[in-house]
Amino acid sequence: MVNVILDLKNVTKRFGGLVAVDEVSFSVRRGEILGLIGPNGAGKTTLFNVITGVYKPEGGRVIFKGVDITGMPAHRIAKMGIAKTHQIVKPFNDMTVLENAMIGALFGKRSGKIGMGEAREVARRMVEFVGLGEKANHLASQLTLHEKKLLEIARALSAEPELLLLDEALAGLNPREIEESLGLIKRVNEEMGVTIIMVEHVMHAVMNIAERIVVLHYGRKISEGSPEEVANDPEVITAYLGDPSLALRFVRRRGA
Ligand SMILES: Nc1ncnc2c1ncn2[C@@H]1O[C@H](COP(=O)(O)OP(=O)(O)O)[C@@H](O)[C@H]1O
Ligand SMILES: [Mg+2]
Repeated sequence: MVNVILDLKNVTKRFGGLVAVDEVSFSVRRGEILGLIGPNGAGKTTLFNVITGVYKPEGGRVIFKGVDITGMPAHRIAKMGIAKTHQIVKPFNDMTVLENAMIGALFGKRSGKIGMGEAREVARRMVEFVGLGEKANHLASQLTLHEKKLLEIARALSAEPELLLLDEALAGLNPREIEESLGLIKRVNEEMGVTIIMVEHVMHAVMNIAERIVVLHYGRKISEGSPEEVANDPEVITAYLGDPSLALRFVRRRGA
């Protein structure tokens, strides 16, 4: 299908005896925001690491833009147009905001072809896009957690991805910062045309912004559908969401 940017087929990743990702299959449509949720340890970050080539899966296939990228090295996958933000942000503290973002540009889609000047230009644009323009020349160590999370997005965007994987980009932020970041994620999707998979525990946020949700539990996909469908799925409520009335409240906020 021409509309599908990423297709996962029975992806399995083991760590010794532990099956961290267990026969997971789903597709991502070009242009959508897909939410990936589930309890801690469900395999979300591991799945991101398989998609980006950090880990080679023991089973299954990862198809990106119609190309089988299963087991390809991470730098080649980055060049094909996939970028990821890290759950634990670790910028180079003794480098400036702009320099940190430049790393994304130098090792992204145009890795090996982009010059320093151009990388600086792309990085500058992305740093401004996320709202860190005034801090471009500050050391990363001087940033707040919120700003570090924005820098992480700027670095990933500087790679000029077609598919962006956000790993808990909202974790640890206060409600105002969450609203701001949601606005930014929407702009990345709508204005830049970047397809997004977001791993998120902030339920009202992901339920509001994502068109579809996939739920992982002990490495297995237990549900997939619209936020409404997933929030009403008894298996999801038992495994993750808990109180059903709470789950429904997430959905009611949609579009509000
Ligand atoms: N590098 C690793 N070595 C061994 N076990 C790991 C490794 N990374 C993750 N795991 C295990 O795999 C499971 C899934 O972890 P993870 O993908 O981080 O979950 P999530 O991101 O959904 O919280 C957990 O049981 C975790 O302890
Ligand atoms: Mg994780």
